[in-house]
Amino acid sequence: MRSILNEKNLKSKKILLRLDLNVPLKNGRISDTTRIDKILPTLNFLIQQKAKIIILSHVGRPKGKIVKELSLKPIVEDLKKKLNTNVRLIAENIYEIKNKYFFEKFDEEILILENIRFYAEEENNDHKFAKHLASLGDIYVNDAFSCSHRAHASIHQISNYLPCFSGLQLDLEVTALNKITNQITEPITCIIGGSKISTKIDIIKNLIPKFDNIVVVGGMANNFIEYFGNNIGKSIKEKNCNQLVKEIISLSKKKECKIVYPEDVLVSKDLNGSSNNRELNQILSNEMILDIGPKTINKIIDIIDNSKTILWNGPAGYFENPNFANGSIKIAKKISENNKSNKIFSVVGGGDTVSLINSLNIANSFNFVSTAGGAFLEYLEGKKLPGITALN
Ligand code: 3PG
Repeated sequence: MRSILNEKNLKSKKILLRLDLNVPLKNGRISDTTRIDKILPTLNFLIQQKAKIIILSHVGRPKGKIVKELSLKPIVEDLKKKLNTNVRLIAENIYEIKNKYFFEKFDEEILILENIRFYAEEENNDHKFAKHLASLGDIYVNDAFSCSHRAHASIHQISNYLPCFSGLQLDLEVTALNKITNQITEPITCIIGGSKISTKIDIIKNLIPKFDNIVVVGGMANNFIEYFGNNIGKSIKEKNCNQLVKEIISLSKKKECKIVYPEDVLVSKDLNGSSNNRELNQILSNEMILDIGPKTINKIIDIIDNSKTILWNGPAGYFENPNFANGSIKIAKKISENNKSNKIFSVVGGGDTVSLINSLNIANSFNFVSTAGGAFLEYLEGKKLPGITALN
């Protein structure tokens, strides 16, 4: 993997820069800018080198359609302020853009193409689409570690058509995660939550041999709660997962890895509602699970106290509604407290988790904060990430 940091003569070169600007947006406003802030050094480096920058990024999952709410507009505004330079959003159809007149028509240092996932070809890793994207630049840089587990056109296929480099943030994340996986001390606990169940549930099986405890919270826990015979009402879950959960439980016994899932939960009839505490056998059909309950919190705190390393990815509940933020807040504070008193080594990852610890002002009391969620877990799993392989 060659880092762009070591490249000379970038002056006037057109750099296609894949970033992960997938920040949380609410009513067109960014609620956490960590992913933007972390790539500023790369942008400043390229600006200093007098390169011409064309940013590629996605936001959310528009599934190949134009979704107004998932425009990169608010991100462009934030970048303009932070870089103190003009950044132009190119909203026209990518296929109508030609390299020849790109920077002639738009004289700015930084251009940013509208949400790349508005094109179905992106997630299909389409080679014609990748080739066209590549034709817009001279050099490709991947500074989106948090997307590098996706074999998508602007992350994977594009590398077939241009000289490829890693960006500064990607270098940092890979170096830190390598160090972590080599220096880890036991007992090791991995806490996995969040709402992207399909991305994570498959990974658990491969993590079992590496950890002493795997604590399953968030959306994925619902699959476990249901598997053990409980009604989960309207809660989110991944379909057809019972066999996988069965295999996870059976493998965990063989490998002596304890799988912990909620013992009690907080529910509501809708996302904006107030919370009710429920035992697992009390959940009603018109309710959804939105957080872990007090007994579960105590159990997790106990596990954290008995661990030397904690890896945490994904909130325990729907923390956007303060009525369901308690589980995630208690976990965050406990890890940060034990980290500060040097009792544990801790790594936290994922867009929502990072946003939560920022809102609590405790991001400095973890050993490493990764911008990546799924990519972080797959890297720990030992998988070769398509975006990293492409750079090699
Ligand atoms: C993330 O938020 O983890 C990355 O932006 C990847 O998003 P995805 O899970 O929608 O591919």
